[in-house]
Amino acid sequence: MSNACTVDFADVVLEYASDAGDGRVRALDGLTLSVAAGEPIAIIGPSGCGKSTTLHMAAGLIAPTSGSVLVDGAPVEKPRQRTAFIPQDLGLFPWKTVYQNAATGLVIRKVPKQEVRERVTAALAEVGLSDFAQSYPKELSGGMKQRLALARAIALDMDLLLMDEPLSAIDALLRESLQDTLLDLWKRRGQTQILVTHSIEEAVYLGRRIVVLSARPGRLMRVIDNPGMGSAEYRDTAEFTDRCREVRHALAQTGFQPEAAADEVAVAGDVAGGAAAAAAGDAAGDAVSAAAEVTA
Ligand SMILES: Nc1ncnc2c1ncn2[C@@H]1O[C@H](COP(=O)(O)OP(=O)(O)O)[C@@H](O)[C@H]1O
Ligand SMILES: [Mg+2]
Repeated sequence: MSNACTVDFADVVLEYASDAGDGRVRALDGLTLSVAAGEPIAIIGPSGCGKSTTLHMAAGLIAPTSGSVLVDGAPVEKPRQRTAFIPQDLGLFPWKTVYQNAATGLVIRKVPKQEVRERVTAALAEVGLSDFAQSYPKELSGGMKQRLALARAIALDMDLLLMDEPLSAIDALLRESLQDTLLDLWKRRGQTQILVTHSIEEAVYLGRRIVVLSARPGRLMRVIDNPGMGSAEYRDTAEFTDRCREVRHALAQTGFQPEAAADEVAVAGDVAGGAAAAAAGDAAGDAVSAAAEVTA
């Protein structure tokens, strides 16, 4: 089995039903983007520009209103076996142990018990959580929870990893070390990756290309090539600094304010939950839980 798949968005429009105006909210407006097999892409853009929507379509949780989303050349009509999706809230189940959380995706896919044991044990070892297999999420630090969400993806034998601001709740120092973990995982396994992030540095550290979306309705503003990424030393180079500046300038044209982003991140959980619930009843929340159940 190949380690990586292609992802193609072709002229994708996504409209949500809404109580306001003409009853529709256009979240994405004609997104065209091709991700090569094994390519790690970072998506950045103002709040509400359709980043999560883009990931939900790639995960097969929602269908485009028009246009197409293809994974390995086939339309994504439902969650795929080998797509791992880490939602913004990580999607961990508080009532399940670390082991059971890591096993969720495999159990749903009806993988034989012995194989589940082998794959989960290996995945927990890979993220350094072997000693916590019988703990519960509430007993873990933020960084450990993040690593658990990653272990769940690793256990799946994914060829596509979709991540929705997975490090947003983590403080700066630990964040860099988890970014190293993500980079290392990609270098060893070579899966295709789409990372949604609020952080310019994170996008430049982890994205081979950085996709900048406009404010809602999301349109592709810029795709910034970033060939130097791929090593931990990159952070210390002049090229890294230049690239961060380039992304910052592209974002400035969208009305995005990096200084405001830190505050936004602090309350992102509340805002996302509240906005989704207000806008769509529990539909968005359900979609995310379903995503965790189905594709975790
Ligand atoms: N289920 C939904 N129903 C109605 N509107 C939604 C729903 N989900 C998202 N939206 C709206 O679509 C836009 C894009 O949302 P989203 O993809 O979550 O943005 P981002 O992740 O970039 O912050 C936002 O304006 C949001 O309010
Ligand atoms: Mg989002």
